[in-house]
Amino acid sequence: MKKTLLLRVDSQAPEIEKIRIAANLIRTGGLVAFPTETVYGLGADALNARAVLSLFEAKKRPLDNPPIVHVCDTRDVRRLTKEIPAKAEKLMRTFWPGPLTLIFKRSRIVPDVTVADLDTIALRFPRHNVAMTLIRESKRPISAPSANLAGKPSPTKAKHVLEDLDGRIDAVLDAGPTVVGVESTVLDVTVDPPQLLRPGGTSVETLREVLGEVELNPAVTAEKPVPLGRIRSPGVKHKHYAPNANVVVVEGELSAVVDKINDLATYYVERRSKVGVLCTNETIRFYQADVVKSLGSRNDLASVARNLFADLREFDSENVDVIVVEGVPLEGLGLAVMNRLRKASGYKIVRASPTF
Ligand code: TXA
Ligand code: MG
Repeated sequence: MKKTLLLRVDSQAPEIEKIRIAANLIRTGGLVAFPTETVYGLGADALNARAVLSLFEAKKRPLDNPPIVHVCDTRDVRRLTKEIPAKAEKLMRTFWPGPLTLIFKRSRIVPDVTVADLDTIALRFPRHNVAMTLIRESKRPISAPSANLAGKPSPTKAKHVLEDLDGRIDAVLDAGPTVVGVESTVLDVTVDPPQLLRPGGTSVETLREVLGEVELNPAVTAEKPVPLGRIRSPGVKHKHYAPNANVVVVEGELSAVVDKINDLATYYVERRSKVGVLCTNETIRFYQADVVKSLGSRNDLASVARNLFADLREFDSENVDVIVVEGVPLEGLGLAVMNRLRKASGYKIVRASPTF
């Protein structure tokens, strides 16, 4: 066990002495969790193979699933990639810093372990003063997967990082809750049209406004596990986002969904399970269960995204056995929310249709 150092910092104007302590840890091969605008990441020097290997170990992450490399200027993008397609230039100008990760052909300076032996690399410039200052002060590109144990919901608060990784990492920079709440969108720009591998904090609609055509990888909207041959993003095939409780997602027309959730809640209660319902502000008054939580408003899917992972973790701390979740529309941030929920459920999806 290591002693994990907790460093509280201001999210807008982080105290530079504390950032330097963290940057020193990164430069000497250590592991530091830090906030980004999406979720907390667990950082290591991307150019230090041993540090990246210890990152996989701390998270218990399979070695075939490479983390995203975080940069804070376009010079690093040039060093780490073989070529930058014109469409990528445009995306970087429009969306960086921000919750968009781009897949490039990688350059030779990148250690194999950093990219899990692939010939591509995932790069992102996060929009968070703590993340940016840490990368700048480390003078290194930083490999950072989400700072959770593999398979668990991503952390949106420093407290979640400690729940999973206390004693396994060197330090956590705590700057309060993250604002986006789901991870960055992953877009492969080595192909044309660019292909969306993971929906996230930058919506497909806004990407299409800038690029025109964007293809969706089948895994993005999958309602059941995708055959391995069709997977382009290695992370997609592993268990993900799962709380300890079983998750069931109910999708369909809203009033039918409400009825179906109440039926399921009764069914599980009769079988002596502790039941949680995860719903929205507009429907919360219709439910009865052991624990009922609202993710946010259906008219503001960004609020739903922001609360998603924290709410899933809270059900675990209340020892709920089953979480029945209300689906939201696959629009804007709703696409990322539904992608995470379907995976968290292990694709236990129930379709509710209206009965007349
Ligand atoms: O918002 C985020 O993206 C957060 C914060 C910390 O920046 N990071 C994050 O990283 O979610 P991670 O490692 O948990 O997810 C990285 C995703 C995985 O699905 C992985 O398979 C994919 O990006 N990925 C990484 N390198 C790739 C590559 N070369 N080709 C295709 N997919 C790649
Ligand atoms: Mg992750």
